[in-house]
Amino acid sequence: MNIPFVGREKEIKLLSEAMGEVRSGRGRAFFITGPVGIGKTRLLREFSQHAEKNGFVVLFCRAIDEKAVPYLPVKDALDEYMSKHREEQPLPIGLIGALSSTQEVEFAQTNVLAREKTRLLERYLGLFEKLSSSAPVLLAIDDLHWADSGTLSLFHYITRNVSELRMLVLGAYTDEYFRGGRNTFVDTVQHINIERKCPAITLHPFTVDDVSVVLGSILGTWKVPEDFVYAVHRRTGGNPLFVEEVGRSIVEQGLFDINERKLKVNFSQIQLPDSVKTMISQRIANLDENTTKVLRACAVLGREFEYEVLKNTLEMDDETLLEVIDNLITTGYIDQGEGVEETYRFVHNPMWEVVYTSISAPRRRMLHKKAGEELEKAHGKERKYWSEIGRHYFLGGELNKGATYKILAAEDALTNYAIEECVDACEEVIKVLPNISDNDFKQDCTIKTYTLLGDARYIVCEYDEAITAYESALKVATDRNTRINLMIKLSYPHLGKGNLDKCLAILEGAFGMLAENDHAGRAEILKNIGWAYEKKGEFLKAVECYKKSLLMSEKAGEEITIGEVYHRLGTGLWYLGELKDALRFLERGLEIRKKHNLKKGIAGSYNNIAIVLKDMGDILKAMEYYEYAKKIYEEIGDISGVATVYHNLAIIYSLLGEDAKAIEFDKKDLEISRRIGDAPSQALAAYALGECYQDMKDYATAMNYYNEAIQASERYDDKRMLGWSFAALARLHAENGKFDEAEKYLDMAMKYAEATGNKELLGVAYTSRGDVLLYEKKFEASEREYQKAIEIYREVGQVESIQSTNYALAKLYIAWEKYELARRLLFEARDFYIKINGKGMIKKIDEELKRIEENEKI
Ligand SMILES: Nc1ncnc2c1ncn2[C@@H]1O[C@H](COP(=O)(O)OP(=O)(O)OP(=O)(O)O)[C@@H](O)[C@H]1O
Ligand SMILES: [Mg+2]
Repeated sequence: MNIPFVGREKEIKLLSEAMGEVRSGRGRAFFITGPVGIGKTRLLREFSQHAEKNGFVVLFCRAIDEKAVPYLPVKDALDEYMSKHREEQPLPIGLIGALSSTQEVEFAQTNVLAREKTRLLERYLGLFEKLSSSAPVLLAIDDLHWADSGTLSLFHYITRNVSELRMLVLGAYTDEYFRGGRNTFVDTVQHINIERKCPAITLHPFTVDDVSVVLGSILGTWKVPEDFVYAVHRRTGGNPLFVEEVGRSIVEQGLFDINERKLKVNFSQIQLPDSVKTMISQRIANLDENTTKVLRACAVLGREFEYEVLKNTLEMDDETLLEVIDNLITTGYIDQGEGVEETYRFVHNPMWEVVYTSISAPRRRMLHKKAGEELEKAHGKERKYWSEIGRHYFLGGELNKGATYKILAAEDALTNYAIEECVDACEEVIKVLPNISDNDFKQDCTIKTYTLLGDARYIVCEYDEAITAYESALKVATDRNTRINLMIKLSYPHLGKGNLDKCLAILEGAFGMLAENDHAGRAEILKNIGWAYEKKGEFLKAVECYKKSLLMSEKAGEEITIGEVYHRLGTGLWYLGELKDALRFLERGLEIRKKHNLKKGIAGSYNNIAIVLKDMGDILKAMEYYEYAKKIYEEIGDISGVATVYHNLAIIYSLLGEDAKAIEFDKKDLEISRRIGDAPSQALAAYALGECYQDMKDYATAMNYYNEAIQASERYDDKRMLGWSFAALARLHAENGKFDEAEKYLDMAMKYAEATGNKELLGVAYTSRGDVLLYEKKFEASEREYQKAIEIYREVGQVESIQSTNYALAKLYIAWEKYELARRLLFEARDFYIKINGKGMIKKIDEELKRIEENEKI
């Protein structure tokens, strides 16, 4: 039965106009919303056909809640399109196992992992860009409320960038889910709504005329009696699905006389239920036994299911089953799904729900177990089925098998940065752990699950949760290597929280447990210990650890690890101002990374080498290296990396005294970081801009940027960056004579410096206090603070900071009229900046020297 499409002229017109815009290069995105059965899917389908006829490439997909596989709907739709058009897949998208090259992300700081996710999203975006370059694209995602977190992030990401693509994006969801408390879906929609790049089209119920047409087509006449139409309209509230079900039920009960074109009974005698679900239950109650049996098995399998699996679950022969299926299709319960395999699906969600809830609990358990077994037989090796198989086994009471598959699914989700799915799967396993009787298996599951949970929590900066999870795993772990491994993992969230001493204690504990001849293990842990010292700003100690780590890794002979240690050692030496050695090690690291084609690593090497070159005064070569790094970051879709390069270029320009250019690049960095939601980069860029504007005495703008830096740092709990920002605000207020405010911010900066134990930050806090005191003209006190800062910088070997503090101290001496002292410091700083070609600073220093001369004349 073909029910004509009615009453959506307004929506079609609006969407057609959007099509026009898309064609001319300005992409658009819309939500399609409304209650269950209002016609969202129908509108998507009708409009997709319309778009296809008008030359759009149409990608239609649907999210299904029980699948929970990251990016599955979009990936499936793309695969289908590719196979239809026999195009080779331009990019390995979606389930690419992006974490597999662990060496590249060994020092996986949270922001690095967030970058990995962005990388994945960028690849999708790139793919859509490519697709839409030949023809405009319509991407329609139905039932978005059931989408996995990966698909939701992708949808969000596309809406942010859609105006740059020749692409129309539609996402349909049912209102009820939006009101159902907080979850990833609700959060995503709220975020999208704030950004205003994806307006919602809300569908309204049928008018009386619409109802008349639809009923007419079901009943087989164009002249449905008017009072009957009115009555149905009133009872159903014009809900299309309800209207349709009423029509079907009247046909099935033979209550309409087609010749007479009227009801055989009085309308008031027909029992119309007051909800569509009750209506559906009434209809299924009248089905014969065999049909009911099949329908139940279908419902247990899910909203979408494969013919083979259904057949095996039911143990029914093809002929009988096919007959029942044909019958279910004609009566509108199920229809053929799209896709490669022979699949079917429930036409309407309420139908699935009504059938599923009508099955008794013991029968449901039996059917789920069978479904799990059949799915495992057919697809046990395919990752996209793992979550589903696990679900069936759990619901079928097969806990061991359920846990095994859920853990596999959690691992897979984590590899794709689908954190929510990973956490959900882990939590399901944790719930059943007490009921698992095999002790060895239970221990194994406990360790695996809590480790995964810890990894997932860590990636999204939920450090306390990550610590709890790793500790739960440690509690049951007995094997030495497992324990060591877990301790290394446990050290990361402590590092992230800024509990550096705790982090070091854990790592040293793990180090002590290593076997004498475990060179690789020693190399690894020493490298991490070095990293923690680097975070503390204790660069001498860091370098010492890296050197030891290098010895160990050379003994172990694992080349990639050696390369990573070279890189770290080079970076550490740079902090110490030992530029030549730094360059040597960074270049060696680069060589190894090149040999193993670790692209992101190569880009990282170029970036760090450029930083060293800059400090050596070879600005041109530094810029060339930044270009290399940028190119690779672009190639692998790591635009966060691109943003970092912009930031570093800005530093170069500011060193050269080209402030306008510096601002331009920092703004580029900031724009990208905001767009992709990269909080660490955003904080850094905003902070840098704050400093630029403060330099130009535009205090209002500077303050805004500092506040943005603070907000972004709070988002990912970066105490170090918060300390820096508060120190900057203190200077800003002092410069404006607001000393009380300045004191307040100084206290906060100091608090964070002490909390993180970060020496570099402590130095910054002292310098800021020196600045503030200088504005207050408390010279002696100010001098003391600067000297404290210099002492710290000496201790940790931060040469550039020593010189910039010398410059600050010189300004103090000028104000204090101690010109000789000032001059000496300025010359020392000048020599240094000449060495590194810091024209901007040299200019500033020369200005101060001139001031001394003028003052002395008077
Ligand atoms: N504009 C329309 N003209 C004719 N029939 C319609 C129209 N809109 C919806 N219908 C019919 O009503 C029924 C329910 O519509 P549809 O499945 O599109 O609703 P939905 O909003 O997607 O529901 P759900 O929230 O369950 O996904 C379908 O059988 C569909 O064919
Ligand atoms: Mg629908």
